[in-house]
Amino acid sequence: MKHNIIAPSVLAADFANLQRDIEMINNSEADWFHIDIMDGVFVPNISFGMPVLDAITKHARKTIDVHLMIVDPDRYIKTFKDLGSDILTVHYEACTHLHRTLQAIKAEGMKAGVALNPHTNVALLEDVINDIDMVCLMSVNPGFGGQSFIENTYKKIKQLKEIITRNNASTLIEIDGGVTNQNARQLIEAGADVLVAGSYVFKASDPIATIADLKKITAL
Ligand code: DX5
Ligand code: ZN
Repeated sequence: MKHNIIAPSVLAADFANLQRDIEMINNSEADWFHIDIMDGVFVPNISFGMPVLDAITKHARKTIDVHLMIVDPDRYIKTFKDLGSDILTVHYEACTHLHRTLQAIKAEGMKAGVALNPHTNVALLEDVINDIDMVCLMSVNPGFGGQSFIENTYKKIKQLKEIITRNNASTLIEIDGGVTNQNARQLIEAGADVLVAGSYVFKASDPIATIADLKKITAL
């Protein structure tokens, strides 16, 4: 069966009403929580850190998908495990020894993800694809929610899918940035398994219905 996992990004939530927004996701058809951690160095923005993630995971009742936009992520692998992360994604561009980092994430019992910036070629993952549980293709430049989707992403999904199939890997493809009801189905048809949606969900007048609609239009 084709995956159509929907992962709302908490970055677009109302931080003054975080528990309310987490319960909204708990009560929706969303599959995962997507958590964006930014350090102000790897990306030109700072989001939130450990105490906030701790507060989120106390209430969240779905898979916790953590996207680290930080330099030298190896420093915090154990910390993110202890905070309740199920999937830990690091950036290709932030890891000198990516293979080692992936093994360290898995040794902590988490699924290991690798995110690629829009300019990074998917072919660079050929030699580690069997060690990666999920590739997160950035469809915007990381750092901010609410940006517009980069169309070149479709080509990258197809190229990545070909690498995954040829290597007999079971790697999931996640798309992060600018996802709406206008591109969701086409992304799944191209080979994506997981769609992150931040502002499209949280700025909607009815987020629960918006998530239900994303689930419905992506069911192949
Ligand atoms: C961007 C983050 C995304 C962001 C997506 O750096 O990695 O997860 O929250 O937000 P939207 O869906 O608004 O583009
Ligand atoms: Zn993200």
